[in-house]
Amino acid sequence: MRSLRKGLSLASLLTGVATLGAVLVAAPAAHAADTPLRDLAAAQGKVIGTAVTGSKLTGTYGDIAGSQFSSLTPGNAMKWGSVEPTRGGFDWTEADQIVAFAQAHDQQVRGHTLVWHNQNPSWLTNGSWTSAQLGSLLQNHISTEVGRYKGKIAAWDVVNEPFNEDGTYRSTLWYDGLGADYIADALTWAHAADPAAKLYINDYNVEGVNAKSTALYNLVKSLKQQGVPIDGVGLQAHLILGQVPSTLRENIQRFADLGVDVAITELDIRMALPADSTKLAQQAADFTSVVAACAAVTRCVNVTVWGFTDSDSWVPGTFPGYGAATPYDENYSPKPAYYGIAEALGGSTTPPPTNGACTAAYSVTSQWNTAFTGQVKITCSGASLSSWKVSWTYGAGQQITQAWNATCTQSGSAVSCANASYNGSVADGGSVTFGFNASWSGSNPVPTVTLS
Ligand code: XIL
Repeated sequence: MRSLRKGLSLASLLTGVATLGAVLVAAPAAHAADTPLRDLAAAQGKVIGTAVTGSKLTGTYGDIAGSQFSSLTPGNAMKWGSVEPTRGGFDWTEADQIVAFAQAHDQQVRGHTLVWHNQNPSWLTNGSWTSAQLGSLLQNHISTEVGRYKGKIAAWDVVNEPFNEDGTYRSTLWYDGLGADYIADALTWAHAADPAAKLYINDYNVEGVNAKSTALYNLVKSLKQQGVPIDGVGLQAHLILGQVPSTLRENIQRFADLGVDVAITELDIRMALPADSTKLAQQAADFTSVVAACAAVTRCVNVTVWGFTDSDSWVPGTFPGYGAATPYDENYSPKPAYYGIAEALGGSTTPPPTNGACTAAYSVTSQWNTAFTGQVKITCSGASLSSWKVSWTYGAGQQITQAWNATCTQSGSAVSCANASYNGSVADGGSVTFGFNASWSGSNPVPTVTLS
């Protein structure tokens, strides 16, 4: 059964690449380590997860999500603003889809998230509510959502990001309206709606021992003493390259010693762009140390990455100039970080030699009645070139008339462009672009290009 899920077929890889629009790798496509991460994790008694976007769960994205991970977290689909955009108007489409995919792939689901200050619907945030109204809105929301997925969710991030950096409570709709009791109440209501689900409090910058994580520690301790249903803490772990907290393991252990589970819930490790092989190697080491810290503590049960591919990561949009934060690149090739995770789980430690790659991307930059201008950008990451040739086949009678920064020839529909004398070398982390004019009529589809 498991072997059916193993690896990626070349056909599915090519399909995924083609839909991205004409990008092909020069080096042979890197392949994932033989043993999927979920099997490596299972052998350690751990669960390995990823955040996902429901609409993307087909093709290569779906193949990897289903075969490599044993847990899925909806990246946005279960947030209040997604499920109840208008008051009483529920939309469970994406959340249902992710849960169904997980069940079909024998995966857990982490529900994310029930009580937060972000991504709430405007009817809720713009309303003016008495404390009693707010409490009943929250109780209804929790009962409805947790109830809908009762028996299908392994763990809920019930409360998200309740603390400030100094360990005081964050001023939010909930804290301001209900006081700190909103946390215990939310946990109690969630437990009533699904007694089997593990209930978590989740936050960021609580990975190491610091004021914020100590506040979380004290809260969990007091909730436990009061008999409030709290099963775990989620350490988000949105980290920066080279900055894994040295006290991560110690911090995980102190929560475990309180008698709760720990999960790394949103792991990504961002770097200043562009990526290069040095940064990617550091990132692999960082992923190894985070996963190893979890692996070392029995009660650390789950490591979830916040998106498995750089094409589905919140980082570039949220931290300008940063990116490349996940274990797979934008073309779904595993990066050194992938092997860093595998290594911490006792799997293959060495990436295949062709892990880095150069890619060529074709685009039409302007188009008018009968002619257009196009360009091809060649980009290298973890690899370099000393000369290059890009070829493609035109499917609709397009004809190159002129090229610059490359020597192009066209024979029938076959086009081949080689580097000029001055731009054959593309450094690791660098790129080269050439342009051309061509004629077209009827349609002007983007061809698939091959870099060699
Ligand atoms: C992020 C999603 O990844 C983005 O798509 C969305 O635009 C904003 O939220 N902490 C959390 C997550 O708990 O829910 C956030 O997810 C990232 C930070």
